[in-house]
Amino acid sequence: MATPSIDKHALDSFHAHLSQSKRVLALLGAGLSASSGLPTFRGAGGLWRSHDSISLATPEAFAADPSLVWHFYNYRRHMALQAQPNPAHYALAELARKLPGFQCLSQNVDGLSQRAEHPPDQLQLLHGTLFELKCASRRCDYHETNFTDPVVPALAIPTGGVDPTSNEARREAAAAQDKGQDLDISDVKVPIPSISTKDLPQCPKCNAHLLRPGVVWFGESLPASVLKNVDDFIDADAGIDLIIVIGTSAKVYPAAGYIDEAREKGARVCVVNMDTNDAPASGWAEGDWLFQGDAATVVPELLKPVIGEIKAKV
Ligand code: APR
Repeated sequence: MATPSIDKHALDSFHAHLSQSKRVLALLGAGLSASSGLPTFRGAGGLWRSHDSISLATPEAFAADPSLVWHFYNYRRHMALQAQPNPAHYALAELARKLPGFQCLSQNVDGLSQRAEHPPDQLQLLHGTLFELKCASRRCDYHETNFTDPVVPALAIPTGGVDPTSNEARREAAAAQDKGQDLDISDVKVPIPSISTKDLPQCPKCNAHLLRPGVVWFGESLPASVLKNVDDFIDADAGIDLIIVIGTSAKVYPAAGYIDEAREKGARVCVVNMDTNDAPASGWAEGDWLFQGDAATVVPELLKPVIGEIKAKV
């Protein structure tokens, strides 16, 4: 991914501000994990097997077709498990260790920040995680941590023998997309079968409902404990010095609203994004920074005065 060079003057002024900052927020989005190979939601990459990813992320979609929705989430779990954290995940984890007044508000459910050993009490998972399963019934409180891939045998990715993470599959999908076809790499060769409800993940506690991914779907509330942690940080008398907005289109609320809340508490705003059109919803203000480029390159550079050099992990 080509990254434009970072403006030296802006970088110096950001470094000067960061070095004096005691209370810092970061708002993370799918662009943080893009260079780890995970697709974003909006724009290119937001399609899975011709389905708009967002249309599958609702309780209504799960109720209507749990097999389809589970295929989608099983595939995302598989891709996330294949991916590795990139230097930006490690840089943010290191900033958290160096700066106790740093909180990351992540919209990502891919588990990469956790695998980069981001301190858990400085990582607020606004939208949950792919690796937590919970009972689909609101009346049952069962939940579990689960990294099994596929999540149940019936959900094994139907590839007809083609590994969807292989170069062959990637080439085939890219060629189809060049021809204007909506083909995701998981589409290669074989259509997805409809799985009977009894073969989907079952709640072992109530024995009456399916398990579902422990992510926040459109129309659902954010986890109460996470909301409290975020509100406590934002409402503290000490104010906020800086919010770094990384790889998010900042279109989904309440997450996107935290940019303005931080601003109201005194924070200067720094945006890291490949696309310079993805501005904060309320627009730019005097003193904001915009660093265009791949988060995996830009974020370690931005944080260098506090965290030093981040070594690539293999
Ligand atoms: N580096 C930095 N930014 C990038 C990169 C990259 N390598 N690649 C893409 N981006 C930017 C895009 O320009 C876009 O602004 O990342 C952003 C991704 O935006 P979305 O796809 O909308 O993802 P996100 O903002 O995380 O979505 C928020 O919406 O679908 C729901 O719950 C889901 O958490 C998700 C939420």
